[in-house]
Amino acid sequence: MLPLRNAFSIFIFVTLVPFTQQVLNEQNEKLQWIMGKWRSEFFRKELIIDEAPVAKSANVQFLNFSARAWSHSTKDHFHDEWGYLTVDPAGNATLMTTGNNGFTTYEVGQVSPNKLVLTLKDIGRISFSRDLPVEDLRRTFIRHDDRYMEQVIEMRTATHPKVGYLEHTRVVYTRLN
Ligand SMILES: *[C@@H]1O[C@H](CO)[C@@H](O)[C@H](O)[C@H]1NC(C)=O
Ligand SMILES: *[C@@H]1O[C@H](CO)[C@@H](O)[C@H](O)[C@H]1NC(C)=O
Repeated sequence: MLPLRNAFSIFIFVTLVPFTQQVLNEQNEKLQWIMGKWRSEFFRKELIIDEAPVAKSANVQFLNFSARAWSHSTKDHFHDEWGYLTVDPAGNATLMTTGNNGFTTYEVGQVSPNKLVLTLKDIGRISFSRDLPVEDLRRTFIRHDDRYMEQVIEMRTATHPKVGYLEHTRVVYTRLN
């Protein structure tokens, strides 16, 4: 039986958010602020973070992640990324991505109420990608308020910079839902 307080908060939740079933576990609740559908009209970028089905064998609750970009003028597709995001019992977040640029990433970091900072732990790249090998990457999500969020991607490739990171993209998203 659920303690009364939990039963009550689930009731509120279901009442206020009738279109999604966001019953996150205690760790993933820290990522509640990042969930939803986000859009940047200026660059035509869309970010969707939702709750993924749980694989019974692994029993880990993941959020699924898609970040996609289009061109304004040609409607051509640019870089897309798909992935999974979760917070472990120690409170560290992990994001795994795979992209149509030929890279897969494994990123780890810390989540706070208004910020998620992930750094690269491992990377895979198809040998025939035109993109330069990436040596390091830092991805930061900043929540400005309930409507606006920013994603900053900084990286170091095989050629530059020698140390640290160079800003690669900075996108401000507006919440769609
Ligand atoms: C995430 O999972 C939900 C629930 O299964 C699904 O409806 C949605 O399409 C998934 N999104 C992505 C980006 O995989
Ligand atoms: C996990 O978090 C702890 C403290 O919160 C930190 O010391 C540790 O380095 C983190 N682990 C990784 C792999 O980031």
